[in-house]
Amino acid sequence: MATRTRHIGLSLGADICWPICYEALLRKLDLTLDIDGESVNFEVERVGIEPFDLMQPCKYDVVIDRLTHWYHTSREWTKKSIVTDDLYVFNNPWSLQSMEKHTTYCAMMRLGFPVPKTWLVPPKAYVESPDLQPTLRKYARMFDLGEIGDQIGYPLFMKPYDGGAWVGVTAIRDREALHAAYNQSGTRVMHLQEAVQPFDTFVRCVGLGPQWRFVNYDPSAPLHDRYCMDHDFLTAEDEKTLSQMTMVINAFFGWDFNSCEALRSNGEWRPIDFANACPDSQVTSLHYHFPWLIMANLRWSIFCAATDRSMHANLDWHKFFEIAAEDKPFADKLDDYAKLAMRHFDAERFEEFCATHLPHLDEVANEFFGSETVLDAIQQKVEALYPEHEVDTFTELFWERIQAWRGDNSG
Ligand SMILES: Nc1ncnc2c1ncn2[C@@H]1O[C@H](COP(=O)(O)OP(=O)(O)O)[C@@H](O)[C@H]1O
Ligand SMILES: [Mg+2]
Repeated sequence: MATRTRHIGLSLGADICWPICYEALLRKLDLTLDIDGESVNFEVERVGIEPFDLMQPCKYDVVIDRLTHWYHTSREWTKKSIVTDDLYVFNNPWSLQSMEKHTTYCAMMRLGFPVPKTWLVPPKAYVESPDLQPTLRKYARMFDLGEIGDQIGYPLFMKPYDGGAWVGVTAIRDREALHAAYNQSGTRVMHLQEAVQPFDTFVRCVGLGPQWRFVNYDPSAPLHDRYCMDHDFLTAEDEKTLSQMTMVINAFFGWDFNSCEALRSNGEWRPIDFANACPDSQVTSLHYHFPWLIMANLRWSIFCAATDRSMHANLDWHKFFEIAAEDKPFADKLDDYAKLAMRHFDAERFEEFCATHLPHLDEVANEFFGSETVLDAIQQKVEALYPEHEVDTFTELFWERIQAWRGDNSG
């Protein structure tokens, strides 16, 4: 039987813990798969940063990228490799570059998702440029900020149209606070968004290919406690809605890995932040959920590499918009969008692939997450983030949470 090696590249920045675990677990699995009569094995390595000839071939079949959203050299290398060598990358660098929060709100509103009412306002201040003054003098209309606030209703949130990491987000109670926040917003282009309030549950649904995980999220807790450890906190109907929303968003934007935030208010799930295309992957925030992420990442990247999954470099929205234009309730449309999404992710074939080729993953992973390698990876990440006197306490805390996961998932 002919043998082929599939190369997986990790394009990394400050990541410490997850690549260590990803690499070690892949080694431990020691896979040689029979794929269509070929014997396929896998090698993983970290992608370096260096000058490149635009015609330089790319040795990787799949790259898991964590830099595209801010590091341009890697982004452009990734784009080159997709265009010239059919590289498969998570996530699609073009859509990551151009689809900020604002675009995702607009697109999902068109599909009928109950995104809270949102306005975009021109910035308070500008960086001078030659055409700025003539443009503003001629076309910038005076507007009454207070009136827009009244239309949206209070409380509301002011947040950057392309934001992330909670930067520049302000909760606003009244007109006065709105003016004060806007006056301080500088050159950033802001959204004003109706607050979902009160809400009874805040969920982060993490999607990785056709896989998802629901995390009960507590935004008011310190960083290490925001991802709560409870499971079975959602009804079957909630799970269906949230997983479908996540899969649809990810398929629509060509994101293999994304996390979608939604709040439940009066029984309805309101998505508020779902353009997180370089989601949190650190053991210091995911802890109990960290093994799931490593395993989901392995399954999907191995599947993509082994089956030569082709990169959907161009997005195809018209089928979603055709469903959006139909005269039927949102829940029925969501069922139809989700069918498109699962087709996009080749979900049936993926499931069959995992059952055939990775049936031992759960058992191997359960043992692995009790190993010294994992303890060491946790410690390295904690050392990078916490002051010295807290390193032991937090290493122990995250380790114990992962051991709790092992206990809950030991067959
Ligand atoms: N419309 C909203 N209703 C209620 N809470 C909100 C709303 N928008 C933002 N928040 C709160 O502010 C936090 C940060 O806003 P978010 O839109 O998630 O921005 P970021 O992309 O920076 O995470 C959220 O986690 C949530 O706690
Ligand atoms: Mg958020």
